[in-house]
Amino acid sequence: MKKLLAANWKENPATGAEALRLFRVTASAKRGKNVEVTVCAPFVHLEVLSRALRKLDYKERISIGAQDMFWEDEGPYTGEIGLKMLKALGVRYVIVGHSDRRRLLNESNEMVNKKVLSALAGGLRVILCVGESLAVHKRGVAATRRFVKEQLVQGISGVRRLGSNKRNLFVTYEPIWAISKGPNDPGNLYDDPKNAAGMTSFLKGILRKSLGFTPPVLYGGSANIKNIADYVQYKEIDGALVGGASLREQEFKKMISTVSNL
Ligand code: PGA
Repeated sequence: MKKLLAANWKENPATGAEALRLFRVTASAKRGKNVEVTVCAPFVHLEVLSRALRKLDYKERISIGAQDMFWEDEGPYTGEIGLKMLKALGVRYVIVGHSDRRRLLNESNEMVNKKVLSALAGGLRVILCVGESLAVHKRGVAATRRFVKEQLVQGISGVRRLGSNKRNLFVTYEPIWAISKGPNDPGNLYDDPKNAAGMTSFLKGILRKSLGFTPPVLYGGSANIKNIADYVQYKEIDGALVGGASLREQEFKKMISTVSNL
């Protein structure tokens, strides 16, 4: 099965020129047919990346994504960006429910669910993020599973009724305690790949039961050149959501080639 590497640039870089440079380097990575790459950039950079994308060969294996979207398509919602705007730019993926947003902006499971439904109904591919904090993690496997199950079940509520668009759902398991603090942070706590594979298959079990099919499940949490093969070699792990390392462009290029060669 094809693996997906999704770069999550978060609030980086500062300028469109730097975003374009980074995107071009990423797009130049050698990649096999077994790997798809998407670059989830800040909203303000999507237009410049969208133009660059149109000129590329092998477009089908690289795309652009957003890091969030609002659930209403348009209207009096100050500061928000919705489906129509993203589709007009040729955006293929949207990250929904990232832990940064849940943690810092109080995004609830209900808000996440509205975004998931709007994005899927409109034909975008959704990368729904779920994952536990260190406090929950320390309570043990059963508590972790309960917590993450709740996020997932609420996040996908109503998806079953969506028709064929529901097949555009992707899920990422991102244990918050394993997420790096940015491009200069190598990550201090790593999840054990075997544990990550166990969690992804746990999530797949819930998805299969709730939806009648099994969407791909990625792993996110300080994935980098040293550990990417250890995670993605598991058949249960369908790729990675990569934050800090996706900004270290030479490293990310190598990660793409590494996954291509698995
Ligand atoms: P990281 O981010 O790769 O920098 O740890 C991953 C994520 O935010 O999911």
